[in-house]
Amino acid sequence: MNHRRTKKATVYDFQPTTETMRDDVLSGLARDPKILPSQYLYDERGARLFERICETEEYYPTRTEIAILRQNMDAIVNRIGPRALVVEPGSGSGLKTQLLLDSLKDPAGYVPIDVAKQQLTDFAEQMDRRFPDLNVLPVCADFTNAYELPSCGSEVRKRVAYFPGSTIGNFTPEIAVEMLRHMGELCGEDGGVLIGVDLKKDPRIIEPAYDDAAGVSREFALNYLVRLNRELDADFILEQFGYEAPYNEACDRIEMALVSQCRQVAHIEGVSVTFDTNECIRTEYSYKYSPAEFAALAAQAGLTLIDVWTDPDRLFSVQYLVPQ
Ligand code: AVJ
Repeated sequence: MNHRRTKKATVYDFQPTTETMRDDVLSGLARDPKILPSQYLYDERGARLFERICETEEYYPTRTEIAILRQNMDAIVNRIGPRALVVEPGSGSGLKTQLLLDSLKDPAGYVPIDVAKQQLTDFAEQMDRRFPDLNVLPVCADFTNAYELPSCGSEVRKRVAYFPGSTIGNFTPEIAVEMLRHMGELCGEDGGVLIGVDLKKDPRIIEPAYDDAAGVSREFALNYLVRLNRELDADFILEQFGYEAPYNEACDRIEMALVSQCRQVAHIEGVSVTFDTNECIRTEYSYKYSPAEFAALAAQAGLTLIDVWTDPDRLFSVQYLVPQ
């Protein structure tokens, strides 16, 4: 007989409020140069657009990371061992996670953490169906803020913080150290951090990945303004903003920005913000590291690098770190 599982994962909810978003956005726009904090790019539509970026020809990180995981899964699984609790801050929709959980020996549980609540719920249910014996414990939170881990209820031998996709590249090195320290705390003394890190390379390969010919990257950035118009009663005129994503070689990072095409004023919950012609509003950074630079960053967070897996062209890396 065919049993259909009806069990639904309960979401532990620490979702940021609109007030938090309002304060973050207004203080970002009060700065010079102006910024829009990256975490708010991922509303439901933003999360879907990001998935589409991952499928563009130009965006090499996703497919390269998946190939690295496939190629080295035995080594990864042996490194982690049985009865691991996998905690994933910023889980997205996780093909990479399925790959890992498919291969791990008798995993104890899986804790996806994401701000996009609908996507998180759908994903948790999908994981629940796919892994009927796995404890799936979703947490809705902005993982850069405080949240609590649910308890697992079965034997956990090791906690592993899983951070694929080079999400770490969104943060400045200073904040990245804090994030890594946080992951070291999540996994505890006996645990580990399995992390995807995009590598430094010719900017002619990097730049198109963040400004694809089909314009999905642009649409993704512009969606920020769509969200502000809807959720913070703003009146941005989308046609009056362009998009750019140059690679800054001195800082080893892509700098994604919306560019005001004219002098204009927008209102966000009644607050006026003026934009000059060609003024940039930074939406995201994407830092690139050499393996040695990343090891040095991890060391500052009290983590030691013990494995680096990469692809033949050294485009991307998957690394395993343990607390010192
Ligand atoms: C989610 C931070 C890994 O930097 O490659 C890609 C974000 N934004 N294109 C990246 C992103 C637009 C992405 N990360």
